[in-house]
Amino acid sequence: MLTKRPLGSTGLLAPPLCIGTSAIGSIPGIYGYEVDRDQALRTLRAVFDGPIRFLDTSNGYGGGESERRIGAVLREIGGVPADFLLSTKVDPDASGDFSGERVRASLAESMERLGMDHLPLVYLHDPERITFDQATAAGGPVEALVQAKEEGLVGHLGVAGGPVDLLRRFVNLGVFEAVITHNRFTLLDRSAEPLLDQCAEAGVAVLNAAPFGGGMLVKGPDTAPRYAYRMASDEVKQSAAGMWRACEQAGVPLAAAALQFSMRDPRIGTTVVGITRPERLAHTLELAALDIPDDLWAELDKLTPASGTWLR
Ligand SMILES: NC(=O)c1ccc[n+]([C@@H]2O[C@H](COP(=O)([O-])OP(=O)(O)OC[C@H]3O[C@@H](n4cnc5c(N)ncnc54)[C@H](OP(=O)(O)O)[C@@H]3O)[C@@H](O)[C@H]2O)c1
Repeated sequence: MLTKRPLGSTGLLAPPLCIGTSAIGSIPGIYGYEVDRDQALRTLRAVFDGPIRFLDTSNGYGGGESERRIGAVLREIGGVPADFLLSTKVDPDASGDFSGERVRASLAESMERLGMDHLPLVYLHDPERITFDQATAAGGPVEALVQAKEEGLVGHLGVAGGPVDLLRRFVNLGVFEAVITHNRFTLLDRSAEPLLDQCAEAGVAVLNAAPFGGGMLVKGPDTAPRYAYRMASDEVKQSAAGMWRACEQAGVPLAAAALQFSMRDPRIGTTVVGITRPERLAHTLELAALDIPDDLWAELDKLTPASGTWLR
């Protein structure tokens, strides 16, 4: 199940699952709970020791705490293992500066925190924080990333963010070899469909992040009533509750269907799952391996919320 495959046209090999570390940086405003350093380090040690050899972070998660915690574990184990892929992202600074100069500083910070002198895969993170014109202007972040790649600081470039039409514009530039979309190709939202088709045609790798919508599709809508880091509409919560019941009747956890919904799509190279506890690793693999009957897929499809509720 974890066999590595080519990641788009990068020449890198990546497994179909990747561990995401935004919550590991402790962001209670988004996830609703703190994650203390000890728990984060135990989780990260288990990840580097475990079967899923791919980790995703960013300069900005938890104000840099995600990278700092990863760096602490990398120092314990003597650096990134040879068979392991670690990706990060460039972010604006606290003042909101997302210039080319800031991108250079973001790369330097990430390298220092992680103890790496080369970053194999770096994404432009959430470019919706500036306009497309600002992002692509001379002296802007896209130019700085391309330069960093030419200089060999960075191996491959990706773009990671929300709005689907914006990501599609970035893919059209032809400089990004990988795209992270999040919360937009799940049991509850299909808005990334056109992006998936575009990337498949262009040979650009798609990493589908947040298959659980940030928690709702694994913890259930009663425990986790937020979807994509904000309170979900009644329609979305009712849909998730209906899916929960349908899965219960079929004897399958909703989380298994949510994870496999992403993993079974041939346009998706890797599915990125966020965890903050070591025991989640084995559980993720169990969820990925469970048999899901065809009629349950058909039932879940019927329970998909109307397209008007999708994030886009
Ligand atoms: N713009 C971007 O680039 C972007 C945006 C969103 C996400 N991402 C990446 O994608 C990753 C995944 O997204 P996400 O973490 O927001 O959402 P997610 O993967 O949909 O859900 C994460 C949530 O699911 C819970 N969970 C995971 N496995 C579980 C299990 N086996 N049992 C019970 N609960 C489980 C986690 O709980 P615990 O914390 O309790 O383990 C956490 O609350 C991020 O960490 C990040 O690396 C990138």
